[in-house]
Amino acid sequence: MARQELYDRNHEPPSSLLRRALLKGAVAAGLTSSLADALRGADSIAAGPQAGDVFVFFSGDHAGQVIKPTDLIVGASPVMAWPKEPVTDIVRDESRLSLVLLVRLEAACLDEVTALRAAEGLVAYSATCTHAQCPVTGWNDEKKAFSCPCHQSEYDPSQNAKVLSGPAPRALPALPVKIENNVLVAAGAFIGRPGARST
Ligand code: FES
Repeated sequence: MARQELYDRNHEPPSSLLRRALLKGAVAAGLTSSLADALRGADSIAAGPQAGDVFVFFSGDHAGQVIKPTDLIVGASPVMAWPKEPVTDIVRDESRLSLVLLVRLEAACLDEVTALRAAEGLVAYSATCTHAQCPVTGWNDEKKAFSCPCHQSEYDPSQNAKVLSGPAPRALPALPVKIENNVLVAAGAFIGRPGARST
């Protein structure tokens, strides 16, 4: 096996490896093309968070662990997360457009629209900047605003992630959330298209 191919396989996301194994198994077993197509269609699972998904830490000591509401406290910096389908345990990590920003704010500070999509002050948004698709990894603690390190766009999570400054052309798409059995869960998909394209 060529060195580059070996490298690529060793760095393939676990969910991708699972799908590859399932697909190979289907072909080896001579299963119908419709089943093979269905397994290939598993890629659509990675398209973005869906209703019922839980969230796992993107990085840090707890990377891959399910995020509980108590992991997020008012006043703390946002947490970047992948959505995870809870039945199959497939982490939707195929595309950076699936990355989610979670932060807990004072519930009383949320505007009306944001409050409808929040759970106990917890709000969620796409983590991909709408300007040039950098991950929005920064946090302006004074303004309580998300901050993109690439060209300094800032977004207000208490007001539906509207753009406060910088070249970003539109708000970060919101993700409605709820709390079930002490776990933070997506209550739908992104409202709007994540990334630089609006349609
Ligand atoms: S990519 Fe975020 S401000 Fe340009």
